[in-house]
Amino acid sequence: MLNWIRRFFGKPQSTTEAPPAQPMPLVEPELPVSPAAPEEDAFAAFLPFQIRPLEVTDVSKLIRVFRDAIQLGTAGQYDQAQRDAWSQAQSHDSLISLLSEGETVVAEWDQELVGFAQRIRDCINMIYVHPDSARVGIATLLYQHLEDSARVDGVSGLTAHVSLTAHDFFQFMGFNSEGQEQADRDGVTLTRHLMRKSLVTN
Ligand SMILES: CC(C)(COP(=O)(O)OP(=O)(O)OC[C@H]1O[C@@H](n2cnc3c(N)ncnc32)[C@H](O)[C@@H]1OP(=O)(O)O)[C@@H](O)C(=O)NCCC(=O)NCCS
Repeated sequence: MLNWIRRFFGKPQSTTEAPPAQPMPLVEPELPVSPAAPEEDAFAAFLPFQIRPLEVTDVSKLIRVFRDAIQLGTAGQYDQAQRDAWSQAQSHDSLISLLSEGETVVAEWDQELVGFAQRIRDCINMIYVHPDSARVGIATLLYQHLEDSARVDGVSGLTAHVSLTAHDFFQFMGFNSEGQEQADRDGVTLTRHLMRKSLVTN
């Protein structure tokens, strides 16, 4: 089982100041709930964090997680110009528009939003965890909710355009790299992996 089972008892200290929550309007009242696998149900009772569908008041907190995950979490793989281009690629409005597609789940810990992930059809489009809450299994649970719902939808395989930072996480989730590709963000190039996972069992 995951190493994070041993690390449940104590949230890491925050290294960043959280701005006050700003409830924002979002024209997305209903989002689908993906069913939890039986094993997740058993473990859910012991988890200090919970995974739930996106709610209308989450967007400002979600942007903070998105920007901090990039600025603080990917500094080992991407330089400042790349992190700036990536983290500014989504404005508040464009993120609201993007979140109206597919399925998005968020992770909450002590009433704080600490991570989120989105699937659009067969693509894991976004997965971000705040660096203060890294390596305790939050992305694993977010991803497993999306994989479960993809299976329910009859999706035969998942694709992801994966940052160099997230490569090992996706590999841990059973994805294989099909090679590197270049993404353009406002004229700045970012290297990432194209990764796929089959959901078909033999
Ligand atoms: C990638 C990311 C989502 C992982 O979130 P997380 O909650 O820390 O991941 P988990 O704790 O569920 O990790 C599960 C396993 O994945 C692997 N893994 C996760 N992050 C890793 C890292 N930085 N280096 C190596 N392995 C890693 C490990 O095997 C880990 O298990 P372990 O902690 O028991 O060793 C997070 O680091 C992040 O938001 N990164 C910056 C933004 C980004 O690149 N997002 C993806 C865009 S494609």
